[in-house]
Amino acid sequence: MTTSTVGTLLPADVNCAEAFGPPPTGALLGPEVAHIQGRSPRRQRQFTAARVLARSALAELDVPARPLLPGRGGAPGWPDGTTGSITHCDGYTACAATRTSRYAALGIDAEPQQPLPHGTLHLTASAAEHRRLARLPQGTVPWDRLLFSAKEATYKAFYPLTHTWTALASITVALHLDGTFTARHPLNPQPRQGRWTTRHGILVTALALPPTSRQT
Ligand SMILES: CC(C)(COP(=O)(O)OP(=O)(O)OC[C@H]1O[C@@H](n2cnc3c(N)ncnc32)[C@H](O)[C@@H]1OP(=O)(O)O)[C@@H](O)C(=O)NCCC(=O)NCCS
Repeated sequence: MTTSTVGTLLPADVNCAEAFGPPPTGALLGPEVAHIQGRSPRRQRQFTAARVLARSALAELDVPARPLLPGRGGAPGWPDGTTGSITHCDGYTACAATRTSRYAALGIDAEPQQPLPHGTLHLTASAAEHRRLARLPQGTVPWDRLLFSAKEATYKAFYPLTHTWTALASITVALHLDGTFTARHPLNPQPRQGRWTTRHGILVTALALPPTSRQT
């Protein structure tokens, strides 16, 4: 079986499903239809694609299909005993899912492989992060966007544990050239290791939090 791009960033006991290109289509379950009706066609396509992929990842855990609705803070309500993460951007949709006995939470994020809009980095990055980005070799990786993505993945991973909105500026991330990053969440200062990669013009970041992360 070919490992998905996001799957290369996460431990082998995390199930992943992804699609490059147009978002995959499929059937929604009743409560999902009720939730998403009336939203923009683009949002409906994203929402549907994410549910199709999530059910695929959960099926590998032998979890029967059930509605996957956004809950508190927008975080999906995963079936009992499971946790996961969803991301969608133009040209890419992905889901990762695992058992809560193995990982406390997962965070994945995808972004176009392009620099952030001019003048927006300061909204989410500290002066120290600015300095670290400036020291990275300039090339095909837009480090500012990658930093943003790693912070979003970290936010998504910690939200189910903290149930707290956290400004991305308060999450600190150090990017490493070997495809890893180190993230610190303000409510759980222990450093957490994530991974990043690029493929087909998309940046993907991911981290899996160990069960001890529940002590936030
Ligand atoms: C929630 C957030 C992380 C989503 O990220 P995004 O890049 O906009 O969108 P993505 O497609 O990658 O992710 C969307 C998915 O994240 C998941 N998600 C949304 N809120 C979440 C939360 N609080 N916790 C965990 N996952 C969440 C959902 O599964 C959603 O997809 P769905 O609605 O189809 O289920 C982002 O909007 C956010 O709020 N960031 C943190 C707050 C902040 O500081 N923002 C300032 C930015 S300048």
